[in-house]
Amino acid sequence: MMPKSTAIIIGASGGLGSALYRRWRQDHKVDHVIAISRQAVPDDENSRESSTHYIRCDYTEPSIVKACEKIRILTDSISRVCICNGILHNEHVWPEKRIEDVNLQHLQEVFTINSIVPMLWLKALLTLVKGQSDCVISVFSARIGSIDDNRSGGWYSYRASKAALNMLLKTAAIEYARRAKNVKLIAFHPGTTDTALSKPFQHSVSPDSLFTTEFVAEHLVSIMNNQTVDGELSFIDWENEAIAW
Ligand SMILES: NC(=O)c1ccc[n+]([C@@H]2O[C@H](COP(=O)([O-])OP(=O)(O)OC[C@H]3O[C@@H](n4cnc5c(N)ncnc54)[C@H](OP(=O)(O)O)[C@@H]3O)[C@@H](O)[C@H]2O)c1
Repeated sequence: MMPKSTAIIIGASGGLGSALYRRWRQDHKVDHVIAISRQAVPDDENSRESSTHYIRCDYTEPSIVKACEKIRILTDSISRVCICNGILHNEHVWPEKRIEDVNLQHLQEVFTINSIVPMLWLKALLTLVKGQSDCVISVFSARIGSIDDNRSGGWYSYRASKAALNMLLKTAAIEYARRAKNVKLIAFHPGTTDTALSKPFQHSVSPDSLFTTEFVAEHLVSIMNNQTVDGELSFIDWENEAIAW
C-alpha cells in the first residue's frame, strides 16, 4: 500500500539533515521518510524498514533524475521536502576575508552546491510533488544571503550563492504557483546551529545563540506544519520571522 504522507530529506547526512530525518521518523503524522545523500546508508539505519528508505545520490543531474524515479516508485504522496545541501568550507574552500581571496574554482564549487544543486532538485521534483494535497518544500538558505542585511561584507561566495539561491527559489515559486498549485516554497534560515558547517566560527557566537540541530528541526517541522499554500516564496528564520531580501 502506498504511504499517505511522505517526508523527503535531501542532504540527509549533514547536521541539520540528519536531525530532520530522526525527527520525522518519530512523527506519527508522517508514515514514510526518504533520506537522500552522497553518503552510504549509515550502519545504524535499517533501510529494510518499510517506513524509511535511503537513496544514494551524487547530485549530478542524471543521479537526481534517477533518485526521483526511485521516489516515484516508493510514494505518490509527498507532503514535506527539505533540501539541506550547502557548504561554507571544506578541505580546499574557506570563506573569503577580503577581495584578494576571491577565487574562480571556489566560487564555482560553492555556487554549484549551494545554488545549483537545490535548483536541479526543484526542477526534478515538480511533477512528483504536483497533486491534490498540500506539499511544503523548505530549502536551507541563510540570513547572510540577504542583500539588504549585508553590513559587514566578506564571505563572498557563501553570501552570493545564498542570494542566488533565493532568486532561483523566487523564480521557481512563480512557476510552481502555476504548475503545482498545491506546493508552498520556503527559503529557511536555521540560525547559527551546532554542525560541522559552523564549527570553525562558533567561538564568536554566544552559547545561547548557538542552536542544537534538534531544536532547529523541531521549529522547522512546526513551521512547515502551519503553512498556507499561497503561491509565494517565504524567506523566514527559525522563529518564523520574515527576513529582508
Ligand atoms: N549550521 C548553521 O549555522 C547554518 C546557518 C545558516 C544556514 N545553514 C544552512 O543549512 C544547511 C545545512 O547545513 P548544516 O549546518 O547541516 O551543515 P553540514 O552538517 O556541514 O551539512 C552539509 C550539507 O551539505 C551537503 N553537502 C556537502 N557537500 C556537498 C557536495 N559536495 N555536494 C552536494 N551536497 C553537499 C550534505 O549532504 P550529504 O548528505 O549528501 O552529504 C549536507 O546536507 C546548509 O544549506 C547551510 O548553508 C546552516
